[in-house]
Amino acid sequence: MTVNVRDVAELAKVSVGTVSNVMNRPEKVSPSTVARVQAAIDELGFVRNDAARQLRAGRSRSLGLVVLDVANPFFTDLARGAEDRAAEEGLAVLLGNTDDDLEREAAYLDLFEEQRVHGVLISPLGDIGERLAKLRARGTPTVLVDRQIDDRSFSSVSVDDVAGGRLAANHLMAIHRTRLAFVGGPSSIRQVADRLAGARLAVAEHPGVSIEVVATDALSVLAGRAAGQQILERDPGDRPDAIFAANDLLAIGVLQALNMRGELHVPGDIALIGYDDIAFAAAAVVPLSSIRQPSVLIGYTAVDLLLREAEGGAGFEHEQIVFDPELVIRESTAG
Ligand code: RIB
Repeated sequence: MTVNVRDVAELAKVSVGTVSNVMNRPEKVSPSTVARVQAAIDELGFVRNDAARQLRAGRSRSLGLVVLDVANPFFTDLARGAEDRAAEEGLAVLLGNTDDDLEREAAYLDLFEEQRVHGVLISPLGDIGERLAKLRARGTPTVLVDRQIDDRSFSSVSVDDVAGGRLAANHLMAIHRTRLAFVGGPSSIRQVADRLAGARLAVAEHPGVSIEVVATDALSVLAGRAAGQQILERDPGDRPDAIFAANDLLAIGVLQALNMRGELHVPGDIALIGYDDIAFAAAAVVPLSSIRQPSVLIGYTAVDLLLREAEGGAGFEHEQIVFDPELVIRESTAG
């Protein structure tokens, strides 16, 4: 039998309104009444029906967060920051993972709109500017995380990935490496394309240094391991002397492959740098140098922007917040 708020009111000998106040505005109710109502809730096993509250309020008490790869600690750190800011306002974060699948991305946007979430944060996979404009026109504010789109009518929080690519390449050249390889892909992911573009710009300023691309079909440890094996199987003279991996998961996979046969030494034979500075980078068998993104801060700041937009209404000034990447030097590129 489903217990409802009237059953609780009857057992606690108070009105339905008092039960509602105890659940939503307990500071307006005497402590003894709060205790009596809470005892009745516990005894009956009452669970509030948020769907009914949502209908009345028009909006749920949750935010939707759509990320590219929930297995990547970068995104779970970003989700942590989002949750920290959301919790300050009594909101929850519903997490959706697109796994680089456009249909899943569309399905999550539909689901979160149907759920009347307070707002949507998304690390976009495809060109979804039009879809996000409809979402916002129908009352769901949206903030882009981890990248911008050219349409400045959306707020976004990201890191300057072109600068990050430059940082990585310049660091490898500063330790006298001249045959660089960029391991990453697919290039359809804007973050990957920008990191490679930055590395290429840095290399172009250094005659005598080359950069090749070892393309991968994913940004995962497995894809990194396959790229590392491909490099290992080359003639020694054809191998790069430094690798810039598009993220730390790829770099960890490359390191596994290079270490597997024990023929090559990192950084002696091949220096290696990743991107994101996830916790596993420092914990790798050869601690990884990386380009740090403030992932928790990105999530926290994105929710803050979203809440300001939700309160700001139509006249809200959208902001594109871009953080600077930071070079973290560890053993894998020790000069
Ligand atoms: O999801 C791909 C990459 O983009 C992540 O590793 C992180 O670097 C993000 O910016």
